[in-house]
Amino acid sequence: AAKKKSGYELQTLTSWLLRQEMKGEIDTELTIVMSSIAMACKQIASLVQRAGISNLTGVQGAVNIQGEDQKKLDVVSNEVFSNCLRSSGRTGIIASEEEDVPVAVEESYSGNYVVVFDPLDGSSNIDAAVSTGSIFGIYSPNEECLPANSDDSSALGSEEERCIVNVCQPGNNLLAAGYCMYSSSVIFVLTLGKGVFAFTLDPMYGEFVLTQENIEIPKAGKIYSFNEGNYQMWDENLKKYIDDLKDPGPSGKPYSARYIGSLVGDFHRTLLYGGIYGYPRDAKSKNGKLRLLYECAPMSFIVEQAGGKGSDGHQRVLDIQPTEIHQRVPLYIGSKEEVEKLEKYLA
Ligand code: AHG
Ligand code: MN
Ligand code: MN
Ligand code: MN
Repeated sequence: AAKKKSGYELQTLTSWLLRQEMKGEIDTELTIVMSSIAMACKQIASLVQRAGISNLTGVQGAVNIQGEDQKKLDVVSNEVFSNCLRSSGRTGIIASEEEDVPVAVEESYSGNYVVVFDPLDGSSNIDAAVSTGSIFGIYSPNEECLPANSDDSSALGSEEERCIVNVCQPGNNLLAAGYCMYSSSVIFVLTLGKGVFAFTLDPMYGEFVLTQENIEIPKAGKIYSFNEGNYQMWDENLKKYIDDLKDPGPSGKPYSARYIGSLVGDFHRTLLYGGIYGYPRDAKSKNGKLRLLYECAPMSFIVEQAGGKGSDGHQRVLDIQPTEIHQRVPLYIGSKEEVEKLEKYLA
C-alpha cells in the first residue's frame, strides 16, 4: 500500500516551483514572480476571511475604470497584489482590473515580467461570504518597455503607449496563468504550459500544498453556468442552445444549472466536474462583460492545458490580439464537447 503521507511530505507550492526551476521548466526570475503572487493570494485569503471583522465589507465609494462601484476589498486586494509584485523586483509592468492604465514598476531590476491580474474576482459576493478569487497571467518582458529612468515627461506618453502595446499580447504568449479561489478551501491553480496543478492552503502552517496534478477537464458535462437573467437580451441562436439544454431528451435528464456569479468559482467547478461556463454578448453589452486580458485569456490558457476549450463563440480566446487593456469579449469555456456544441449553434 502506498506509504501514508504525513502532512509534511506533501510538496508545497514553493518546493514544487523550485523543482520546476531545477528541471529547467521555468527560470529563477519567474519562480520569484510566482512566489510573490502566491504570497499576495495568501494575504488576500486572510483579508477575505476576516472582512466582516475588520470592516472591509461594503463599497469603497469610488467607481473604477470599468464603471463598477469598487468594493473596499477590490482596492485593498489590488494594493496587496501590486506591493507583492513590486517587492519581487522581477516585475516590469502590471495591468490590473483596478488600474486605469498599465503601471511600469520602478523597483524592477531583473526579469521585467509583465503581470496582468484581476485582484478580486466576483467581488459582488464579498458581503455574503460567497466564493471569490484572484486571477493572473504572466507574459515575457518586452525590453522596449523598461520603466522610464528619463525624467523627460514627454516620454511619459510614449512610455505609457509602449506599456499598453507591451501588455496587449494574445493569450498564446502567456508563460504562466492561474487563479486562487477563496472558498471553503483556498485553492491555488496554476499552469506553466505543461499541465494544470492545484495547491490547497493548509491553514496549519500557511503553505499551499500540492493536491492535484495534471488536472484533466471531463470531455463533456451536463452542467451549464450562465446568468439566465440576461436571456431575453441574448441572440436567438444562443436562446435556442439554452432551450435545448433543458430538453430532458432520451436520457430523461436535462442539464443542471449552476451559477454563483464569481468566474473563479464557476470555472473551478467546471474544470473539475465538466460542463460549460458562458458569459455571452447581449443587446446591452455587445462584447459581453468579462475582460480579455486578466479574466478570459488566463482561464482559457488553463482550460486548454486541461484538455478543454475557451472560445468567444467563434475563435479561440488565446488567438485574440487585444487592442485595449480593459477590452471585453464573450466567453464560452469548459469541456471540449460542450463548447464545440455551443459553437455549432452560433455558427
Ligand atoms: P469582478 O468581480 O472581477 O468585476 O468580476 C465579476 C465577473 C465574474 O466574476 C462573474 O462571473 C461575473 O462578473 C458575474 O456577472 P453577473 O453578475 O452579470 O452575472
Ligand atoms: Mn470588478
Ligand atoms: Mn473578475
Ligand atoms: Mn475583479
